[in-house]
Amino acid sequence: MSDKQRVSRRQFLNYTLTGVGGFMAAGMLAPMVRFAIDPVLKPSAAGDFQSVASVDEITNEPQRFEWIVEQVDGWYESEVQKTAWVYRTEDDEIVALSPICTHLGCTVDWASNEEYPDEFYCPCHAGRYTKDGVNVPGTPPTAPLPLFDHKVEEGMLYLGQEQER
Ligand code: FES
Repeated sequence: MSDKQRVSRRQFLNYTLTGVGGFMAAGMLAPMVRFAIDPVLKPSAAGDFQSVASVDEITNEPQRFEWIVEQVDGWYESEVQKTAWVYRTEDDEIVALSPICTHLGCTVDWASNEEYPDEFYCPCHAGRYTKDGVNVPGTPPTAPLPLFDHKVEEGMLYLGQEQER
C-alpha cells in the first residue's frame, strides 16, 4: 500500500468521531422529530361513519338522533356529541340533516313554531327551512342545512361527515 492511500491516525480519528457523532445526533433528533409531527402520522378519523340508529326507528317525521365522536386536535383528544335530524322520504330515501342553522349557528328544531308546523325553525332569528333542509327565502339563513353522508349496513344507519350544499 502506498503512503498516499494510507489513512493517517488524524484522519481515522476524524472519520470515527464524525460517524459516531452523527449516529448519536440522529438517535437524539429522531424521537424529537417524531414527537413534533406525531398528530400528522396518526390515521385521520375523517370519513369515519358512526352507528346512529336502527333503520326501523326512522319514520317520515324528522327525529333527532345523537351520537358521540372522538375528536383529536393536535395532542388534545376529546369526545364531541353530534346531532342530526333524520327522516325517511316518500321515496323511502333516508335524509340526515345537520341541526346547525346556516345563519349564525343556533340549533334548529322540527315543527317547534306553531305557525310553521312542517318546517325546521331556528328560534334565534326566526330562520326557517323546509323539510328537505332548504332555507326559506326571506328568512335570515342564506344556505340549506348541510346533509350528513350516510349508509345503511345490517339494519343500522351510519352517519359520516356533514356536506354543505
Ligand atoms: S342563527 Fe338561525 S336564524 Fe339566525
